[in-house]
Amino acid sequence: MPYSYLKVLLLSLLLIPAGCGQQVNADEEVDHNLSEARKLAREFNARLRGKLELAMAEGGPLEAIEVCSTHAPGIAERLQEQHITVKRTSLGLRNPANEPDPWEQRILVFFDEEKEAGADVTDLEHFALFRHEDGEVFRYARAIPTGPVCLVCHGDNIAPDVAQALAERYPDDAAKGYQVGQVRGMVSITIREPN
Ligand code: HEC
Repeated sequence: MPYSYLKVLLLSLLLIPAGCGQQVNADEEVDHNLSEARKLAREFNARLRGKLELAMAEGGPLEAIEVCSTHAPGIAERLQEQHITVKRTSLGLRNPANEPDPWEQRILVFFDEEKEAGADVTDLEHFALFRHEDGEVFRYARAIPTGPVCLVCHGDNIAPDVAQALAERYPDDAAKGYQVGQVRGMVSITIREPN
């Protein structure tokens, strides 16, 4: 569904370095949604990394492919509530179903620019509150950093058996060639407050 925002209530493009705690226009609703979204995004990143590392250690990359493909949506689903959606997206897609919407695309470009400018990718986040026809929509994005374990399936030197398994499932795979420290993608959280 294309987004047609009636009015942008608050659009704050900002980078919050760890520990700084800086907040812009910190009215109560934004505050509440922001802390909820931050918690979910951190939890998503941590659970996914944990699951991946475990699967890699126990079954190797071929089994871990299952984690990134089936567990990630599962983790997102478990974190979801009726009015909250949790999604994973990227500019370099492996699965076309994870395609970013226009807002997400803009933020991903912004995250890449910030990384180029020297920002710490583990702390890149962005949020905005929009007034929609049927209520308010709070959107939150947090970068997913590329760590060493990710390179096995998203790096330059993917082992032939892994590369083959990936190519069979994802013929249009554009999620290769990443380096440690780059923005691999982002967790995108939407909190809807109906009227
Ligand atoms: C064992 C292989 C494997 C490893 C290791 C791996 N991934 Fe993935 N990754 C995949 C697969 C397969 C998909 C496609 C998932 C799907 O179908 O939604 C994917 C998709 C993604 C996506 C969603 C966007 C897209 O391209 O479709 C992100 C973000 C992502 N991975 C991040 C990471 C990060 C961060 C790490 C390291 C912490 C990592 N992955 C490690 C296999 C892997």
